[in-house]
Formats: sequence, C-alpha cells, structure tokens
Amino acid sequence: MLRFESVNRTYADGTRAIKDVSLHIKKGEFCVLLGPSGAGKSTLMNMVNGMVEPTNGHVYVGDLDLNRKNRVKIQRQIGMIHQQLHLVPRLSVLHNVLAGLLPDVNFWRSLIKAFSFKDQRRAFQLMQEVGLEEKHLKRRASDLSGGQQQRVAIARAFISNPEVVLADEPVASLDPSMSRSVLQSLKAAAQSHGATVICTLHQLEYALEFADRIVALREGEVFFDGHPSALDAATQDQLYDITSPAPESQEKVAA
Ligand SMILES: Nc1ncnc2c1ncn2[C@@H]1O[C@H](COP(=O)(O)OP(=O)(O)OP(=O)(O)O)[C@@H](O)[C@H]1O
Ligand SMILES: [Mg+2]
Repeated sequence: MLRFESVNRTYADGTRAIKDVSLHIKKGEFCVLLGPSGAGKSTLMNMVNGMVEPTNGHVYVGDLDLNRKNRVKIQRQIGMIHQQLHLVPRLSVLHNVLAGLLPDVNFWRSLIKAFSFKDQRRAFQLMQEVGLEEKHLKRRASDLSGGQQQRVAIARAFISNPEVVLADEPVASLDPSMSRSVLQSLKAAAQSHGATVICTLHQLEYALEFADRIVALREGEVFFDGHPSALDAATQDQLYDITSPAPESQEKVAA
C-alpha cells in the first residue's frame, strides 16, 4: 500500500533527516514509527502526504508515484491526526468532524455549513465509533477534554474514507490511560475502515501494545523493522534507552 524506495531528505541547512530508507507497508497495517526526538519520524511520515518532498528516492501510495502530478489525488486518500489538536475551537464537534470532508464539499456549501443529511449521519456514526457521546455533538470543540478532542480528530480523519491515516504523536499531550484509550479508538477505526496507519510515538510500551509493525528510526536510519514479537531483549533495551518511558513507568521509577 505504501512504498518508500531509497528515500533521502536533506533540509536546506544541510541536516540529513532521512538516509536511504526503503519500506513497504501493507494495506491495513498499523505501523508505529518509533525513535527519539529528531530521528526523522515526522519527516518520513510527511513524505506520504506530500508535505515533505524526498531529496531523492520515491514514495508510492497504492500504485501512484507521489510526484507533483499525483499529489492532490493522493492527498485526498489521506487522513491526518496531529499532536496539537488542530480543531476549530469555536466550531461544534459535529462541524469539526464534517470539516474532514471539506476538500470534497463545495466551498460555498461548507461556508454556510450546508452538509447533507447523509454526511451528518456519517459524522454521527463516526463519533459513536470513537466513543464520543451524543451530548457532545453540539458542544464547542474547545469545551472538550484533550482526550475527547483527539477522538474528534480521529473521527474527522476517517470521515472522507481515507486509504491511509497519518497520526503524528496523537497521544503526546494525554495522560497514560487516556493515551491507551485514544490509541484503541484509532486502531479500531482503522480496522473497521480497512485503513493503513502510520503513527509516530515516543513510548515503546504503546508501540508494543498497538503496533502490527514497529519501524524504529535513529538519526534518519531504520534500525529495527518488524512485528513487536520479533524484538529481541537486546533491541528492546536499546529502544527503551532511546525512547521515553510512558509517564506511569516514570512514576514507578520515582516511587
Ligand atoms: N524544516 C526543517 N529545516 C531544517 N531541519 C529540519 C526541518 N524539519 C526537521 N528538521 C530536522 O530534521 C531532523 C528530523 O526531524 P523530524 O521532525 O523529522 O524528527 P522527529 O523524529 O519527528 O522528532 P520529534 O520526535 O521531536 O517530533 C531533525 O534534526 C530536525 O531538526
Ligand atoms: Mg516529529
């Protein structure tokens, strides 16, 4: 479904963020990119939506080469979830979810919020799917908790039926129990919609729990790629050292 073929990215200041990475991510896979800050996770992920262009190498989404000609077509197949909750604070939860359809909905209709009944029903179904209660539908997004807002972001990412969902540190600002429950919702939504997910995380524990595949990066290079069960103790220790422990294990250490 997603192929990176010998991709490199060097930024204008000379930083080599990605060094000759080749990966083939299968349809429906929940792939977690793991690694310390600056390892190149966001750079690699953003090559899939065309936000970052490889300096050389190719990215394929399905059968399409992600070049300038195909970029807009591919972007329509991709849903995004960010760490910073990119919701419109003063808009209702429902309209934030519907905003995921904006590229497909006529601009003037979206301006007067004239979404069809079918679209609204779909938004409502997605909200139920990600565990948001009906009473939140009309509330302003800014009145929800961080975890609830992240669920709105998940519903929004899935409303356009994307083939691929990119989640860049979707739980970085949430506490551990909320993080788990948001990751569960993301994984369940991906499974029921058959979407392929790339999700960057900082904590090995969450990767072990949720990933079908872990791709660990260090200084722009892949140093582990496989199912969590394929991690031997030495690599797991190595990964532990370069990632951050989940907050609850920090508490355990402190106790
Ligand atoms: N626009 C840019 N210009 C120059 N260097 C950049 C740019 N974006 C990222 N970098 C550099 O590229 C490297 C990889 O950055 P990237 O954001 O991909 O890392 P990351 O693994 O996502 O880190 P984090 O966990 O902190 O989000 C870093 O050294 C970073 O400073
Ligand atoms: Mg990043």
